[in-house]
Amino acid sequence: MATLAHPESDFTVLPEMAADVFTAPLKRPAHVGEDWLEPAQTAYSSDQDEIWDELFTRQMQVLPGRAATAFMQGLERLDLGRGGVPEFGKLSEELGTLTGWSVVPVPMLIPDHVFFWHLANRRFPAGNFIRTRETFDYIQEPDVFHDVFGHVPMLADPVYADYMQEYGRAGWKAMRYNRLKALGALYWYTVEFGLILENGTDLRAYGAGILSGPSEAVYAVEAQSPNRIMLNVDRVMRTDYVISDLQPTYFVIESFEDLYHQTVDRDFDRLYRSLAPAFTYANSAVIDVDDVLHRGTQEYLLRGGRGSGAAPV
Ligand SMILES: [Fe+2]
Repeated sequence: MATLAHPESDFTVLPEMAADVFTAPLKRPAHVGEDWLEPAQTAYSSDQDEIWDELFTRQMQVLPGRAATAFMQGLERLDLGRGGVPEFGKLSEELGTLTGWSVVPVPMLIPDHVFFWHLANRRFPAGNFIRTRETFDYIQEPDVFHDVFGHVPMLADPVYADYMQEYGRAGWKAMRYNRLKALGALYWYTVEFGLILENGTDLRAYGAGILSGPSEAVYAVEAQSPNRIMLNVDRVMRTDYVISDLQPTYFVIESFEDLYHQTVDRDFDRLYRSLAPAFTYANSAVIDVDDVLHRGTQEYLLRGGRGSGAAPV
């Protein structure tokens, strides 16, 4: 059976990046090594702990009934609302007993190959800082609230936890084919902005980008503007995405087993060979192969999106 990962890959050592593989040119701070891990987690002030608590409270006002059941269960199992920014050592211990994952602090966005390497070893890199009150609603660089509140609860789900590890392993292959952008689109439309149709009827969000922000959970699940299309890995990996506004399109899975098998059972060698490097579908497009759950009006986007102050309807 073909798998995402190359069978000969050794995931215990950091992979070498070939010179011709494009990746974001990030400058490594002097105090971190090649693994980009911080020597210790930040000691947060009481004001910073309060920011966590306020963000937590705000999200809990919108997430019940809109977040995936697995996410809500993960939040509860890991007790992420116990007060203040979670301590990674204790969190890793608790998560470790559930699925073998740990959470490790990193200073900022890290290079793709290092990120993949950590995931392949069931380590989730999380920002070692928290947003300020000035950037309470939206920050572009993921902070500890986005990373821990948004991502970590899902890692308590065994099937999802396996998907994330396979995703990390898949990075090696994407780098070999120079198709990191396509694999990035898959991450974007599943791990960050994925929806799930629970029991065949209840639309819920499991993507961290949706679950860690103030307005996207309502918009993604209930608004008329966005398209909601059943996940098709080949199609998603050819789809463009924007990082600074609500999504024009969401992709929906039937279950986490569905997500795992759609990706892990796919022959990615063939897929990467068939992808032209620069070709993508517009992120608001509905195309003939789509299994459409809801065809969006795109009203929010047509009115100008975030910059125009349009209502997320
Ligand atoms: Fe994220």
